[in-house]
Amino acid sequence: MRAPRHFIDLATFDPAELRAILDEAHRRKAARAGATKGAKDADVPLLGRALAMIFQKNSTRTRVSFDVGMRQLGGETVILNAADTQLGRGETIEDTARVLSRMVDAVMIRANAHADVEAFAAAASVPVINGLTDVSHPCQIIADLMTIEERLGPVKGKKVAWIGDGNNVCASFIQVAGKLDFDLAIASPKGYLPRTQDVQAAQAEGARISVSQKPEAAAEGAHVIVTDCWVSMGDADKDERMAAFPPYQVTPALMARGAKDAVFLHCLPAHRDEEVAAAVIDGPQSAIFDEAENRIHAQKAVLLWCLAP
Ligand code: CP
Ligand code: NVA
Repeated sequence: MRAPRHFIDLATFDPAELRAILDEAHRRKAARAGATKGAKDADVPLLGRALAMIFQKNSTRTRVSFDVGMRQLGGETVILNAADTQLGRGETIEDTARVLSRMVDAVMIRANAHADVEAFAAAASVPVINGLTDVSHPCQIIADLMTIEERLGPVKGKKVAWIGDGNNVCASFIQVAGKLDFDLAIASPKGYLPRTQDVQAAQAEGARISVSQKPEAAAEGAHVIVTDCWVSMGDADKDERMAAFPPYQVTPALMARGAKDAVFLHCLPAHRDEEVAAAVIDGPQSAIFDEAENRIHAQKAVLLWCLAP
């Protein structure tokens, strides 16, 4: 039996695989243009397959996009709040993985600790998908790349500016910059820079990534300006963060430093007039709701990659 195809971190993908996932997402979105959201894709490629989702943290987009996406592909879903399962009473990650592997064809997990997703995947005999951890958010980045390409054409050669927390979403951008050949300029306050090992690993493979504490320089000429919340789920240092991040707000002045048609992205949920000015996130350069919708199309492509015959 083939080893299960886990979707845990984009660092392990080769550029052609990433390109194929993105192309499938674009293709499936186009193929169902005009269809109602509950309508199935004509080929129902995952008919007879079941996906379980486990959530240790809150979610709106990830939960609904995988649920609706799996159904559009013809499959079935089960959604589990981790605290309501026996995980909440101390059953091991490994036993949970072995049991669910007997009951469903794939598992998506949103976990507090990245190591728990890795442990789950190591014990599972079905594909495991990382639906966000403290370390990365690969599913989000497939949707973000789709959105960039819809607005601006191929991401290759573009400049993406990440402004704010060097967090889990930032880490997934870092992991794809070199593979898809775009420039990534990150500006974060001291103490909230991305993990050095992520940046160095990407740079070692040729990624063009700069890290500074200068949002204006990072935004200069950028085709895409992207940010995220200042306090992620699980962050305990809210007061320190709220003090450190205000100079990193994405304002109309910062957007003006970007290219003329620069696109604003945010994975959501957003906090208007904290990490981004309301005038930007609700303005004409913002693509946030396309980005959110694209979670469905992106997640379908991920499911198909994981469950490919
Ligand atoms: N962007 C994102 O993952 O949203 P949710 O937390 O709502 O799933
Ligand atoms: N960085 C955020 C992303 C939410 C989708 C968090 O981890 O809370």
